[in-house]
Amino acid sequence: MNHSLYSGSGIVPEMDDVQFSRWQSLLEERTGMCLPAQRRSFLQTSLGLRMQEVGCDSYQEYYDRILSGPAGAIEWNTLVDRLTVQETRFFRDPDAFAFVEQHMRHMQRALGEQETFEAWSVGCSSGEEAYSLAMVAEEVLGHSGRRFAVTGTDISTIVLRKARAGRYMSRSLQWLPEFCRASDMLTLDSGHIQISDSIRKSCCFSQVNILNLDACPLEQQHLIYCQNVLIYFRRWRRREILNVLAQRLAPGGVLIIGLGEMVDWQHPLLEPVRSSRVSAFIRKSETSTGETARR
Ligand SMILES: C[S@@+](CC[C@H](N)C(=O)[O-])C[C@H]1O[C@@H](n2cnc3c(N)ncnc32)[C@H](O)[C@@H]1O
Repeated sequence: MNHSLYSGSGIVPEMDDVQFSRWQSLLEERTGMCLPAQRRSFLQTSLGLRMQEVGCDSYQEYYDRILSGPAGAIEWNTLVDRLTVQETRFFRDPDAFAFVEQHMRHMQRALGEQETFEAWSVGCSSGEEAYSLAMVAEEVLGHSGRRFAVTGTDISTIVLRKARAGRYMSRSLQWLPEFCRASDMLTLDSGHIQISDSIRKSCCFSQVNILNLDACPLEQQHLIYCQNVLIYFRRWRRREILNVLAQRLAPGGVLIIGLGEMVDWQHPLLEPVRSSRVSAFIRKSETSTGETARR
């Protein structure tokens, strides 16, 4: 029996149960991502192709290389980029963005005159989500001179590079609402859109592993947006991460996750928003718990 798989650009070796479970564990331990048995051929092909590129003959040899020193850490970065799901687009969840707009209008009135509105896109991939937040902030807060800052974080340095460049294929335009297209928030050139310098300057991108939020200094956030990241994680881990994110909100700040991504989670500091269209939680103010009643 031929224990190999034709990958399209060559033969990749068959992955046995021991190797599958070894790689599965490594991936989960380092990224939180839980790879089900049905995705074995994806893992095999992704690893196999990369092994061909770096001249490794077996999964074990490649595994050992990943674990060895600084070169292994660099190689791991490349691999993470190949193994994580990075699908994203501008304004991916229109209902959530409508809620973001409403929340920003509310915070505009609630914030002190000199306060900067702080937003965080957790697992931002190539930046479309963070720029969508910045565009809404520009529309809602920018006119009144209110400063805002958006931080996008992700585990993959490769997607973060794309995010910083803020350059996307022009077909992305279809996802952008009219107020963005008709503004100077972006320019169009030779099949691409380029996010304007002023919007890019309000955004910064940084590598943060969501499993290691203790090392991430972001706090007092007025909005934390975390969608389509936790779905790949075990439920206990989702809960732990959400518990940490809850602590990073400023009073009155909102945490938005994907609809159905964590249905039975509650946190003593947070008030769930009653809505069938968004999954959002507002941090209670220090003095009162009536924060959400006004919405
Ligand atoms: C499917 S994309 C979601 C992008 C965006 N949030 C959206 O909803 O369109 C998931 C992103 O989560 C990132 N990711 C996966 N595991 C992560 C981890 N442990 N820490 C930080 N980011 C992670 C991936 O690199 C990827 O860019």
